[in-house]
Amino acid sequence: MNKKSLVIGAGGQVGSELVDELRRLYGGSQVVASDIKPSTNKELAESGPFEVLDVLDRDSLLRIVKKHHVGTVYNLAALLSATAEKNPEFGWKLNMEGHFNVLDLAREGHISRIFWPSSIAVFGPGTPKVGTPQDCVMDPSTVYGISKLAGERWSAYYHQRWGVDVRSVRYPGLISYKTLPGGGTTDYAVDIFYKAISQRKYTCFLKADTNLPMLYMPDAIKATIDITEAPSQDIKIRSSYNLAGFSFTPNELAQLIAKRVSGFEISYDIDFRQQIAESWPGSIDDSEARKHWGWNNSYSINDMVDDMLTNLSKQ
Ligand code: SER
Repeated sequence: MNKKSLVIGAGGQVGSELVDELRRLYGGSQVVASDIKPSTNKELAESGPFEVLDVLDRDSLLRIVKKHHVGTVYNLAALLSATAEKNPEFGWKLNMEGHFNVLDLAREGHISRIFWPSSIAVFGPGTPKVGTPQDCVMDPSTVYGISKLAGERWSAYYHQRWGVDVRSVRYPGLISYKTLPGGGTTDYAVDIFYKAISQRKYTCFLKADTNLPMLYMPDAIKATIDITEAPSQDIKIRSSYNLAGFSFTPNELAQLIAKRVSGFEISYDIDFRQQIAESWPGSIDDSEARKHWGWNNSYSINDMVDDMLTNLSKQ
């Protein structure tokens, strides 16, 4: 891929780290970062081109793609599960129209490749909870999940009908220390580390035994770049691939932290996100991603806990 990449949503939890890694691999000038707001992250704004861009603004999107000779778009702009429940109309609009705007750029020949993330939120109460297969009952009960499932079907449709080269993984909960997540149901698994270090206690909004699939950010970034750069014939699923690292409950994570942070205690104050979490799988079968394009995660849950605590303690 000799053309530049554009990362939409570069100020977010995934975007900020994806831009860092792509710039490390290909050089700052090769990766255009964009976000709805001017960047407050100095490194992001200064290590390569940065554009303020609303993915809903088709004309500006096309202008930026042409201006920078963009070949690949990573479209990470979305409202996550909890935020979209508070503003369903806008959640649907941003998640769907943003996706269409990028799909249409490819259909019209302005760009050659798209990465667009889906989520475990495409699954619902009727989905098998353990080792959730790639194809099964999908009855999402959140606006976010509905938009991601619809987006997956549109991706497959654009590929089948117009040959659009779109690639996707269903991210589980993502854990990272560089940029905070915003508005997800799995965010507790990040917050807990900040509070463990600053206060040695954490009040969790999910029940102690809520098991959810999670992935550490370096692995998520690797999956994102690997699937986007894989030979086209290896990508046999054009809706979105299941992807997993490990699964745990708040109680299990708290115990692992307590082993390393003496005196750490967790308490519980459950809110509406519990119902969302209960509709999602506990663990994911990602064997097709492993078979088709060589997905392989490196971090175990213990590696992740060690790395999070080490890095956040430094901050
Ligand atoms: N982390 C997301 C959320 O909780 C799931 O993809 O909304």
